[in-house]
Amino acid sequence: MTITPDTATDDKTGIQPLRDALGLLKDREQVAERLLDSSKKHSFDPDEELDWDAPFEEGKWFWPPELVSLYDTPLWKRMSEEQRLDLARHEAGSLASLGIWFEVILMQLLVRHIYDKPLTSSHVRYALTEIEDECRHSKMFARMITKSGVPAYRVSRLHHNLARLLKSVSTTPGSFTATLLGEEILDWMQRLTFPDERIQPLVRGVTRIHVVEEARHVRYAREELRRQMVSCPRWEAEFTRISSGEAARVFSISFINPEVYTNVGLDKREAMAQVKASGHRREVMQTGARRLTDFLDEIGVMRGVGRKLWVSSGLLAR
Ligand SMILES: [Fe+2]
Ligand SMILES: [Fe+2]
Repeated sequence: MTITPDTATDDKTGIQPLRDALGLLKDREQVAERLLDSSKKHSFDPDEELDWDAPFEEGKWFWPPELVSLYDTPLWKRMSEEQRLDLARHEAGSLASLGIWFEVILMQLLVRHIYDKPLTSSHVRYALTEIEDECRHSKMFARMITKSGVPAYRVSRLHHNLARLLKSVSTTPGSFTATLLGEEILDWMQRLTFPDERIQPLVRGVTRIHVVEEARHVRYAREELRRQMVSCPRWEAEFTRISSGEAARVFSISFINPEVYTNVGLDKREAMAQVKASGHRREVMQTGARRLTDFLDEIGVMRGVGRKLWVSSGLLAR
């Protein structure tokens, strides 16, 4: 077992830091049983739960304006209210499309994760339950995109194929880091969306269901990643640092599909340049990522080259 250097420095025997590290690691089965219990109590069928036939409400947002990429830029100030609402509708569709992409990747990672694990364990049973959650979510997002009248926005062909490779060869800690990247920032945005009365009721319903069920996924991935970073070989921990930094970079580039700007009648290049220069946007993305970056820092993922990649992704201040 490898102990991270930070915890091992003051002790010559290595036994006390080992105990400390293990103390952090909640028993895998116990965590899974609690999550299974919560899944039984708080799971939703979006097809039944939400009113898919209700028309959208005039003047309501599909995404909080402050979380729209161009918010507060000179271009935003020139846009009409109608165009702003339209951009928010397309960005909500772009994020829902990104959500499906992530969930499909995650389902494959989970299947790979349990392939060697004890078949009847709660840990495996919970992973299968999480896959069921993600199946419902992806169908729910797809239905929302269709109903919103926006295209399904795909990531670039390069990122699509890069992820095809990564989801087949990534290490276990690398997989869970990518999972958290996909889940935590969107989760932060959705937590601001569902209680907001300015937002379309259907979008509030979709984000509420997602936030409730996603909290379990974040817990499962965090506990597993914490265990993995203590127990995996040194090369794997180092590879995870670098691959997570690269994943953060790809994630921040593909977060909003630039076609949204063209589709609301804006100049794509100008819009992208303004988003890149926007202090408000940087603040939003870093605040959204903070819970995750603090956690990754704590368990030793944010070091060396990996950390530099995180900073270059714009999701980490320094
Ligand atoms: Fe999900
Ligand atoms: Fe999830």
